Amino acid sequence: MEDNRPSWSSRLTFILAAVGSAVGLGNIWRFPYIMGQNGGAVFLIVYLALILTICFIPLFAELAVGKITKKECIGAFESVNPKFKFLGFLNPLTGVLVASFYFIVGGWIINYIALSFAQARIEDYSSYFVSFIQNSVSACGFTLIFLFICVWFTARGIKRGIEFANNVMMPMFAVILLGLIIFSLTLPNAHLGLEYMFKPDFSKINAHMFLAALGQALFTLSIGMGALLTYGSYIKEDKSILKSTYTIIFSDTLFALMAGIMIFPAIFSFGLEPNSGAGLVFITIPQIFAQIPYGNIVSAAFFILLFAAAITSGISIIEVPIASMVERLKISRTKACTILFFIIGLISVPATLSFGVLENFKLCGKTVFDFLDFTTSSILMPLNALFLCLIAGWFLKIRGNHFIQNKFFAFLFDIGLKFVIPVILVALLYIGLK
Ligand code: PFF
Repeated sequence: MEDNRPSWSSRLTFILAAVGSAVGLGNIWRFPYIMGQNGGAVFLIVYLALILTICFIPLFAELAVGKITKKECIGAFESVNPKFKFLGFLNPLTGVLVASFYFIVGGWIINYIALSFAQARIEDYSSYFVSFIQNSVSACGFTLIFLFICVWFTARGIKRGIEFANNVMMPMFAVILLGLIIFSLTLPNAHLGLEYMFKPDFSKINAHMFLAALGQALFTLSIGMGALLTYGSYIKEDKSILKSTYTIIFSDTLFALMAGIMIFPAIFSFGLEPNSGAGLVFITIPQIFAQIPYGNIVSAAFFILLFAAAITSGISIIEVPIASMVERLKISRTKACTILFFIIGLISVPATLSFGVLENFKLCGKTVFDFLDFTTSSILMPLNALFLCLIAGWFLKIRGNHFIQNKFFAFLFDIGLKFVIPVILVALLYIGLK
């Protein structure tokens, strides 16, 4: 039975796919604007501290549960104890809901790539962006195109689809990112952006910043949805997942920092504001491209970079429900992908329209897009991470001394997995729901 399961071609392709999952819109779109809204360098320090001390534990646990059980999320939880099966269901459900809003932003990116190639002249990017997201037909169309591309790669299977996408997209991503960093750093007054990123102003530290940093860290590392569990379940050979954990964390952090180094010097060079929120990438940055020579080429490169990041993460998001459907319902990958295309399409269309015609349709006082964003990042993802840590620590009995030589660090890992991380996640859930 287990031999029929797909597996990665090599450790490198697994690492590329796991890093591809982690490095996404969370790094290039969300990280700079959350950092911009939370005081710059001091947020960075808090964020790095949380990643190194806290986040590596649930990340390791997800990979370990996948690798040990060799099952998709529902089966993995069920194999620990049949009573936990329903907790496993929450992961593919979260995947479907995350995809339904993440892919909308993916659609916006495709539109901006098209715009760059068309060399469109836009006077006011702020009103352009608002009118684009309000346009039902084009916004929904682009969301569905992005969804289709992710589903298409995933339908081709682990080696021909997921590995292929990551093997092509990740190097392309790295090369474009380096090129854009060089461009940004050679702009006049680029140092102001670097100072903003790396010169902390400790007076700006506050409790909300910790919450924002933790939420961002969990999201960017793809923790709490079973994506890394599912990817971990395809690891065949007996390789150290501790090393993989560090590689994923190191690469994700490096790419987030590089995204900041690409974005902030350009913003400061043009005298723009770093704290413009979610519109940073779709309004502020295009304003810069409009003012420079060959701006459309730089703009195309930037949005292709975002596209590559979003696709590799998007694939990992839908692999969670797809793996569950294939293994639980015993249907083919193509059939599972087709069904999932319609399910996600059905949810993402009203979510896309919530910026336009459905703007007054509210669920618990929120638009469909905000509702999906809130229920997944503030409730379901911390909840899934909580269940996973408890199951890994208390029931699967994953222990630090299995893989950490140093007794003291092994002890800290155990305390972290069984007590500290669960308490922090409960606090995060409580504050998120308040
Ligand atoms: N880590 C991805 C990003 O930073 O964009 C988003 C993500 C992917 C979240 C996969 C969760 C997940 F399971």
